[in-house]
Amino acid sequence: MALCKRRGFIYQASEIYGGINGFWDYGPLGSQLKKNLREAWWQDMILRPCWGRSGPNGAPVRCVPVETRIVQHPKVWEASGHIAGFNDPMVDCRETKGRYRYDHVMVYVPESGDPGDKPVFAYVGDQPSEARQKKKAEKTFGAGAIKSVPLASFPQPWGRIIAPDAEKPGSLTEPRQFNLMFKTYIGALATEDDVAYLRPETAQGIFVQFKNVVDTTRVKVPFGIGNVGTSFRNEVTPRNFTFRSREFEQAELEFFCHPDESVAWYKFWRDFRMEWWKSIGLAGDNLILREHEKDELSHYSQGTSDVEYRFPFTAPGFGELEGIAHRGNYDLTQHQKVSGAKLEYNDTERGELLPNGQRRGERYLPHCIEPAAGLDRGVLALICEAYTKDESRPSPELLKLHPRLAPIKAAVFPLVAKDGMPEVAETLHTELTERFWRQGAIEMDEKQSIGKRYARMDEAGTPFCFTIDGDTLTGQTVTVRDRDSGQQQRVGLDKVGDFLAAKLGL
Ligand code: GAP
Repeated sequence: MALCKRRGFIYQASEIYGGINGFWDYGPLGSQLKKNLREAWWQDMILRPCWGRSGPNGAPVRCVPVETRIVQHPKVWEASGHIAGFNDPMVDCRETKGRYRYDHVMVYVPESGDPGDKPVFAYVGDQPSEARQKKKAEKTFGAGAIKSVPLASFPQPWGRIIAPDAEKPGSLTEPRQFNLMFKTYIGALATEDDVAYLRPETAQGIFVQFKNVVDTTRVKVPFGIGNVGTSFRNEVTPRNFTFRSREFEQAELEFFCHPDESVAWYKFWRDFRMEWWKSIGLAGDNLILREHEKDELSHYSQGTSDVEYRFPFTAPGFGELEGIAHRGNYDLTQHQKVSGAKLEYNDTERGELLPNGQRRGERYLPHCIEPAAGLDRGVLALICEAYTKDESRPSPELLKLHPRLAPIKAAVFPLVAKDGMPEVAETLHTELTERFWRQGAIEMDEKQSIGKRYARMDEAGTPFCFTIDGDTLTGQTVTVRDRDSGQQQRVGLDKVGDFLAAKLGL
């Protein structure tokens, strides 16, 4: 977090006003990193889906984009089930007015589990309340004679519980449902009739426009519709940096297919999404694909998997990065029912073959496979994975970001600010910027020692630095320094662009 702040990746939102809980801003490096992640998703999911591979039907995967609004008709959220069911159970503190997610609260109880007429001490993991309540519990039940259990498994009565930041027993209310959607009002009157919601997911915008996309483009099932944008959830306890924010960005695809092919497509997307996260730098055993158990699945789903990453704050456990869900035809069914619009697809490649050789067409509500990724969690995972401490270096911190994602692609340094080196560096910098600006920034830096300049670029995650030195002037070669190994090699001044292009996979 310190490096993110210091180098302009991520700042607290409204920091000069004391911050606002659950909201984060991106600085110059962070916003470019996030843009690179968004574009990588767009390129590999929409422009050239699955790197040009064929799907389980043997044909190339086809996807189109939409961009739908944050505010939709409130009936959208009625149909999707978010008004009735998008709730988290929470508990309130009567003393401090604090609010906690019920499933995040733990209690310290005596080893036997039965506190008798003594109080039990509630806390939230990794918060100051954890150590404070532990001390009090040990004073009450004896050092080493306590254990912690989830609040949900603590038997009544609630009158015995001391809330995480409170003093008195009975300070915690029983759990109540709390709807996570942000409410707003449309128009000047702002009456209850004007209530609208900020979308809690981008997915519903896709279902609502499904018919328009089918009617106005030449897509044919199977095909996908992608939507990228901001979503809002009034999380009860935002925490773990940007991991659980109240405003965040999603990149979601709804892939529509015939019911008979849906399980094959589900497996295809699940495996591709895992491979994709690996391809942009989340390699190794920090990434897992967790298939949900049968009893975790919604009634309409034939499978859900999460791509999970071992974040430093979840380790040794994992936190969700993306969910890949088989949603059946639940959403289209719901929207058809609530809106009254006919959303069936007429599949002219299936259905009864008529005597004239044409097909009658099979009408059905397509089934849907949904890979739903979070871009803020993606950025956080990329930074966590890239963050490396190499004590053999004078400035040990570096970010080993994948070149495709790195916000700065390369830096050009004159070894010293004299002898014509700045001029050569400036020319190379301009040349590289002209060629690579679509991919990201090329920096030029001539301040401070060369070691400090390398260290600055290491922290920013810049994969390559090109240094103009005495040999450049005589032999027309430059030093290339590789961020990860720290090793240097020489390439021709006129070959620097091609060298970088090859490293960026262009
Ligand atoms: N349409 C399905 C859907 O929204 P989800 O699992 O609730 O599924 C998808 O969200 C992804 O959005 C998650 O895997 C996560 O990366 C991201 N996400 C969800 N809630 C978030 C939050 N409060 N803060 C940051 N990212 C979040």
